[in-house]
Amino acid sequence: MHTQVGIVGAGPAGLLLSHLLHLSGIDSVVLEARTREHVEHRIRAGVLEQTTEQLLIDAGLGTRMARDAIRHHGIRLRFDARDHRIDFAALTGRHVTVYSQHKIVQDLVAARLAAGGRVLFEAEAIAPLDFDAASRIAFRQAGRMRELTCDVIAGCDGFHGVCRKAIPAARLRVFEREYPFGWLGILAETAPSCEELIYASHAHGFALLSMRSPKVSRLYLQCAPDEDLAAWPNARIWDELDTRTECAGFTLNRGKVLQKGVTPMRSFVVEPMQWGKLFLLGDAAHIVPPTGAKGLNLAAADVAVLARGLAAWFKQGRADLLDAYSATCLARVWKVQRFSWWMTSMLHRFATHTPFEQRVQAAELAYLAGSEAASRSLAENYVGLPLATELL
Ligand code: FAD
Ligand code: DHB
Repeated sequence: MHTQVGIVGAGPAGLLLSHLLHLSGIDSVVLEARTREHVEHRIRAGVLEQTTEQLLIDAGLGTRMARDAIRHHGIRLRFDARDHRIDFAALTGRHVTVYSQHKIVQDLVAARLAAGGRVLFEAEAIAPLDFDAASRIAFRQAGRMRELTCDVIAGCDGFHGVCRKAIPAARLRVFEREYPFGWLGILAETAPSCEELIYASHAHGFALLSMRSPKVSRLYLQCAPDEDLAAWPNARIWDELDTRTECAGFTLNRGKVLQKGVTPMRSFVVEPMQWGKLFLLGDAAHIVPPTGAKGLNLAAADVAVLARGLAAWFKQGRADLLDAYSATCLARVWKVQRFSWWMTSMLHRFATHTPFEQRVQAAELAYLAGSEAASRSLAENYVGLPLATELL
């Protein structure tokens, strides 16, 4: 099998890249280890920057989003049992959109298949090879070994994928931070308790109240990174959410728990994001702690840069944009890493904090609540920094 761009992974990065390449008249094949059912129902991100939303609309993927998405013009930071609202509209004139990642994946799979795109499910890439000459990807499908040859490989296979590991370790620089906590997340059949997201900082730890639709809520609690879910019957989860989000006049809606899981938290970046004709995108190249709601948005930003570079390469024979891929993406990645690290550090409880550090953390929140400049900085990062493709 041959194609111009061999894409490993049918998460949002791989599928969106395949779709944008198709719109530019470039052929691709997507290899995905898991089943279509699995990737289309994996509950993950929910908050889209305005730029990510616009990228999807411009690519013709906005129909269901226009119907189901919920537009948000602010978030609430809750601490000392009071709310400080960050007003995105007033501070930046922009908004974010709540629309489930798994729906984006469904929309993308449908668009690729409708256009005759080749997305191979249950096709696990074993190793990408020969990044400089005609590249090859060995993969296993239905118990048989097969091979895909391509001009370029796009590694969109997430943090645990094979593409990053195929680059000689001596050629990569890894930057990493693990956090001494994780998030216990639930999806619940209940109306959101507030029309906006609430990020709560409490002596027991962080809590986040988010949503997926007018009838489904998504809620998180800071927990140990290896928290045992068996120790968290639903009643305990609701009681702890109540405690951490307590505020005069506020009532937390409870409902049937549809799904629960624990996510560890890390910050991770590899440099460069390219090796010969192999390009890394999304979680394959970088991970952010989820507090800033950035992972999916960063993946989409990488895709926008690579799609433009590949179009210049295949259609005009220009290599300059492709050569600049890693540096262009990393400039944004590090700003987003900073923001995600900062939100995480400000809002979580650290068992290792000294009394001095506890006071500084409290002062950071108090400063934010009293400063329009600090609130604007948060808002500007949360709604999304400009894409590199918009700056050119
Ligand atoms: P992935 O979605 O991980 O996709 C990689 C794909 O590659 C997978 O389908 C995998 O099966 C496949 N694959 C792996 N290895 C192989 C192989 N060898 N061969 C073939 N296929 C392979 N981000 C936000 O922006 N906002 C949020 O609100 C947010 N909330 C989150 C909440 C949670 C609980 C979690 C876990 C994440 C959250 N994120 C959020 C992060 C976001 O979900 C990820 O950043 C995003 O999924 C990255 O997309 P990706 O396509 O790079 O990788
Ligand atoms: C959600 C996840 C986040 O990490 C975040 O910061 C906001 C919302 C969510 O899953 O809805």
